[in-house]
Amino acid sequence: MFDPDFFKQSIVSPLRYPGAKRQLVPVIEGIIKANVPPPRLLVEPFCGGATTSLRLAGTDHVDHVVLADADPLLAAFWHTAAFDSKWLINAMWNEPVTVERWDWWRLAEPKGRRETALKCLFLNRTTFSGILHGRAGPLGGRSQKSEYKIDCRFGKKGLERRISAVADLATSGRILDVWNLDWRSTVERAKKRFDMLTPDEMLIYLDPPYVEKAPFLYEWSFESTEHKNLAQAINGTSEFQWLLSYDDNDLARSLYTDYIGQSRLLVNNRYTAAGSERRKTREELLVTNYPTIPTSDRYRLLGTS
Ligand SMILES: C[S@@+](CC[C@H](N)C(=O)[O-])C[C@H]1O[C@@H](n2cnc3c(N)ncnc32)[C@H](O)[C@@H]1O
Repeated sequence: MFDPDFFKQSIVSPLRYPGAKRQLVPVIEGIIKANVPPPRLLVEPFCGGATTSLRLAGTDHVDHVVLADADPLLAAFWHTAAFDSKWLINAMWNEPVTVERWDWWRLAEPKGRRETALKCLFLNRTTFSGILHGRAGPLGGRSQKSEYKIDCRFGKKGLERRISAVADLATSGRILDVWNLDWRSTVERAKKRFDMLTPDEMLIYLDPPYVEKAPFLYEWSFESTEHKNLAQAINGTSEFQWLLSYDDNDLARSLYTDYIGQSRLLVNNRYTAAGSERRKTREELLVTNYPTIPTSDRYRLLGTS
């Protein structure tokens, strides 16, 4: 049964995700609350670990969410967690968390959605920094001499709870669907499928791959032309409300500037660095076409055009 208290916790996603935007969620909540009417639907075309969607749907900041990602592993995972959770939970409990299984899953090419979902969950929870990409190794190293062994992030009880919470969001109609699409197709499909909503009622949250580290972190990464294409498609758009987050860098700043009605915020974000398990701090660039930006000590405004 849907439990709203569960979604007040800071960790709600069953996936560990490089670049997970947990710290941004309260900022996004504040912006949503400051603008009337509230969105009814949130679409997340680069959903990854989906923390933002799960939290906003679970705390009723939005009525419904659609999750989407170009990576078939992630899309299969979210679809199965939402709509076929009993199978996933059962398969997870039956899965031995060993280096032998890690090698097996690395090479496995599952055909169906269920097996693909299990592959995603297994590799995400047992690979360094949750990276699904081929070069990252198993937690604890091949020799398993480290204090942190391969199963140190695979607490099955906690994972069962988090997968069940995803399923509860789906059963209660909060997760409407999961799409395995490129961002552009997701945006186009959302506009067509939900054309009964006014521009105020649909929010698209875009969290594209990092500019600098993307090829190392994600199976589906972005080239700089794709960052430009995204900016061209989003800048100046008033067909829906949108929020976009980037690791702060010159390319992102130069792509989102000089547009009337858009705001740029620099948010302090503590995160776990890829390639290490240590916490670091860096600034996150948040761009939005929401008209009202409340004052907050969590961010500073770069400039409203
Ligand atoms: C920065 S991560 C998103 C992290 C997410 N916001 C979170 O909190 O976990 C970027 C995601 O974009 C996906 N991606 C990469 N290229 C894409 C594309 N062309 N269309 C849609 N998704 C893409 C990657 O698979 C990855 O999951």
